[in-house]
Amino acid sequence: MGFSTTAIHAGNEPDPTTGSVTVPIYQTSTYAQEGLGRPRAGYEYARTQNPTRSALEQNLAALEGARFGFAFASGLAAIDTTLRLVKAGEHVVVSDNTYGGTYRLFSRVLADYGVEFSYVDTTDVSNVEEALRENTRMVFVETPTNPVMMVTDLRAVSEAAHRVGARVVCDNTFMSPYLQRPLEHGCDIVVHSTTKYLNGHSDSVGGVVLLNDERDAERLGFLQNAVGAILSPFDSWLVLRGTKTLAVRMQQHDRTGREVAAFLEEHPKVQKTYYPGSLSHRQHALAKRQQLGFGGMVSFDVGSLENARTVLESVRLCTLAESLGGVETLISHPATMTHASVLPETRSRLGITDGLVRISVGLEDVEDIIADLDQALSKIP
Ligand SMILES: Cc1ncc(COP(=O)(O)O)c(C=O)c1O
Repeated sequence: MGFSTTAIHAGNEPDPTTGSVTVPIYQTSTYAQEGLGRPRAGYEYARTQNPTRSALEQNLAALEGARFGFAFASGLAAIDTTLRLVKAGEHVVVSDNTYGGTYRLFSRVLADYGVEFSYVDTTDVSNVEEALRENTRMVFVETPTNPVMMVTDLRAVSEAAHRVGARVVCDNTFMSPYLQRPLEHGCDIVVHSTTKYLNGHSDSVGGVVLLNDERDAERLGFLQNAVGAILSPFDSWLVLRGTKTLAVRMQQHDRTGREVAAFLEEHPKVQKTYYPGSLSHRQHALAKRQQLGFGGMVSFDVGSLENARTVLESVRLCTLAESLGGVETLISHPATMTHASVLPETRSRLGITDGLVRISVGLEDVEDIIADLDQALSKIP
């Protein structure tokens, strides 16, 4: 089956009770039992199982080519539960340029529980090889990175990690399974903030973990219930609706992303553009090999906080807001918004300058997006 067919049908069986062609929102906390220890259809309590959530988990697993899926109340809840596969005294190697909230979770929460983290530039596999230790149990990467769009070679990192028996987790939020399928490149676990492209309409917060390994899946299923940060039935339904149009949305995000990046590259007020689809991106060849497109995330540097403020406060169509992956174009300032929790010296090393602006290119007409950016950039003195 092709991607769109899978997106529309996987997990989306007509409802057995009524024939409803969309999966109903099973808004219940518990299920009647026929007798002591005899649930009617295997369902006992809705933190443990919910049919709407199960349908979404099957759907997302099919899209990533995974056997198992677990949906959570946010992307960070999905990442947090995944990290519970690692125990105190064990070690994790992490991309030094992840989403700021991921870095905050690792450095200011999980590190307090005895898990050790090494933050390295995973765009060079030799840095990963050097950081691996006997007790390394996980390598966590995000590619392309948020917001400076550096690309990690998933196959090379997976081979290195597997040599020491560590799992590789890839945060695939920026690409979605339509544009990148990390399990096919050797990764073991994929996480997403479903808040972004998978839901696609900026009206739900959620996360998912997808994987093939039976033992890790059994543990994650246990943790999902034991920790309890589950996705609600309504949010599960929204994301299930969102993925039906994932392919067409991503095709358009990708087309518009390329055009917006090309416009910014040529603009005299833009000092640098970050987009893996650009020939000028130093990892363009790797991105082309590993990804099935380049997507709708574009960052650009206008040289100073004042210039960034001018652009961010002059746009009329683009909305100044955190988040990404929705139908509407969102524009943000990573240094003070999404990456405010990253240390200033780390931000400057990574290129997250005060002049950096990030756009999540939406599905409006590309001419309108470009005209809006052009008029905002023209306000820079
Ligand atoms: C790449 C990436 N991963 C994870 C997250 C966290 O997801 P959530 O906001 O759904 O908790 C985000 C949020 O912006 C993100 O951009």
